[in-house]
Amino acid sequence: MTREVIEKLHLKKAHKYIDATVGTAGHTLSIVEAGAEVLGIEADPEMLAIAKKRVGKSKNCKLVNGNFIDIDIIAKENGFTQVSGILFDLGVSNLHLKDLSRGFSFENPEAELDMRLNKEAQGVKASDLLNLLRRDQLIELFTQTLDLSAARWLSSRVISEREEKKIETVGDLLEICKGLKTGKKKLHEATLPLLALRIAVNSELDNFKKALPKAYDLLEEGGKLIVLTFHSKEEEIINEFFGKKGETLTPSDEEIGRNQRARSAKMRVIEKRVNK
Ligand SMILES: C[S@@+](CC[C@H](N)C(=O)[O-])C[C@H]1O[C@@H](n2cnc3c(N)ncnc32)[C@H](O)[C@@H]1O
Repeated sequence: MTREVIEKLHLKKAHKYIDATVGTAGHTLSIVEAGAEVLGIEADPEMLAIAKKRVGKSKNCKLVNGNFIDIDIIAKENGFTQVSGILFDLGVSNLHLKDLSRGFSFENPEAELDMRLNKEAQGVKASDLLNLLRRDQLIELFTQTLDLSAARWLSSRVISEREEKKIETVGDLLEICKGLKTGKKKLHEATLPLLALRIAVNSELDNFKKALPKAYDLLEEGGKLIVLTFHSKEEEIINEFFGKKGETLTPSDEEIGRNQRARSAKMRVIEKRVNK
């Protein structure tokens, strides 16, 4: 939804914007090209290197490796307080899913079940969680994307498998998921368990929950906060903080046809209003 994001940001030349999830810099580039200044934050150093190459040398764009949970500190260090817009395009990029060595996708059973966005900063891999968590912790992890009975079933399967052999690869998880009833016939049976693991490994919900009020504080009056969400837990966090405020948009059928990731995307646009 790049076009819609850019439209809703109402970009103004020489004004400041923060892209809290740079990825491969698709949105960042569009903002820079409109003559605005961007501070881009990206947790994954590999992704940031790709973004830097794409953007090239530009005095209007600063890209930093960091986690958006620290958006307040990073913004201050770079002189980006009182900004006109902030974008969160949550989750991982298509490039992450296509990178068959990192364990994000069920398409490469040989891959290590890792899923960390930053291997230097994060010590715990997805496989560690499966090998070490207690039953109740596993159930809690899987209920982020599965109903309770499916989460219980899967947790029991994890525990009986790991008693036989350490869980290490995506293929190990695929075996464990065989026969899982997710209630979502169109999805591969491992998609929701993989999503739950990714959310846990990267503390995705907690990071977003803590970043959201910090981001709102950085906006000037009339500034826009735009969040692209991909599952209901992310929407719940926005609703907790903003209630029904703002506008919600969904991708067109044409966009869904072009980009599978857009299938479950929603865009929330919130404008900062200060009560006088
Ligand atoms: C959906 S992609 C963004 C794609 C981007 N809008 C583009 O146009 O290429 C989300 C990106 O956010 C990064 N990310 C996820 N959680 C993050 C966090 N807490 N802090 C900073 N970056 C994060 C991911 O590594 C990923 O590259």
